[in-house]
Amino acid sequence: MRDGERAALSGDLLDWYDRNARVMPWRVPPEDKKAGVRPDPYRVWLSEVMLQQTTVAAVRDYFRRFTDRWPTVADLAAAEDAAVMGEWAGLGYYARARNLLACARAVMRDHGGVFPTSRDGLLSLPGIGPYTAAAIASIAYDEPATVVDGNVERVMSRLWLVTDPLPGSKAELTRLAALLTPPQRPGDYAQAVMDLGATICTPRNPACGICPWRTPCRAQAEGVQSTLPRKADKAAKPIRQGTLWLAHRTDGAWLVERRPDRGLLGGMLGFPGSDWDGAGGAEPLSADWQDVGEVRHTFTHFHLILRLSVATVAPDVTPSRGEFLPPAQFRPADLPTVMRKAYDVAASGDLRV
Ligand code: ADE
Repeated sequence: MRDGERAALSGDLLDWYDRNARVMPWRVPPEDKKAGVRPDPYRVWLSEVMLQQTTVAAVRDYFRRFTDRWPTVADLAAAEDAAVMGEWAGLGYYARARNLLACARAVMRDHGGVFPTSRDGLLSLPGIGPYTAAAIASIAYDEPATVVDGNVERVMSRLWLVTDPLPGSKAELTRLAALLTPPQRPGDYAQAVMDLGATICTPRNPACGICPWRTPCRAQAEGVQSTLPRKADKAAKPIRQGTLWLAHRTDGAWLVERRPDRGLLGGMLGFPGSDWDGAGGAEPLSADWQDVGEVRHTFTHFHLILRLSVATVAPDVTPSRGEFLPPAQFRPADLPTVMRKAYDVAASGDLRV
């Protein structure tokens, strides 16, 4: 690709972004950026970590709650672990929330409260991998780092008609994305490619008619855009199983326990349960346990099926693990999703098999 061709491609996309940039609470719009407003690296970092978990629409509320409660990296670094875990509940993958805190504390301890400005400096922080480091360097500091997420892979595979399947084609897609990253406005450019992938170059039914890259797009010329990127067959996720014991006292208290810090849902509140390898495990108190069905939840690497055993007990019963939380202190909304699903079934008295 010649330099002129590259500049024309990135220029066309930036013109499109100037007119169509999505409004996001963490984003500095292109017109403000041109007027000299600098993005806040803390907000860029926080949003990017959250966006690895879920969609832009779902992140908005989490982002607002986090930044209202902890407006700066210093505030977040000083937060109680449990408070951060509680606000994170529902976003899933709690290792990220733990890394979030570790990262904020490392920025305060090792970097004087200022996020490093280079991709390599950012990579040294806990929980910041190649994608997040490139995104922060580019969006917050305008370093021409190459930002590659799923959107960018899709856009590049179509623009350049890369027919080899992912993940094998990743290096080639990254190379092509790097070729196009411009020295001017790399931060806006990175966000523009992601916006293009999210709004026009979508997985199904891409809106090629209004795409700024319609003419140069090789997949569109061949009419194969909706088939790209190809993906190698994935190994099926294993299924893990266990039991949860949901004990409810006649005065309205629920038996909960904090999960160990390490491991899945680490540090979160949940109901006592067996291991998730099908092993029996011990009931937390003796009672007339009723099987009320199951909940299913899919984590990154496995499907989980938990049988639900429910019992109602008198206020003087002492459990062998966990503690009873009275209704005033028990907020189901703070539970991680799988525990919340279990609570909804148990509390509704709705028997499912
Ligand atoms: N997806 C993840 N990060 C994004 C960003 N900064 N802009 C648009 N979409 C994104």
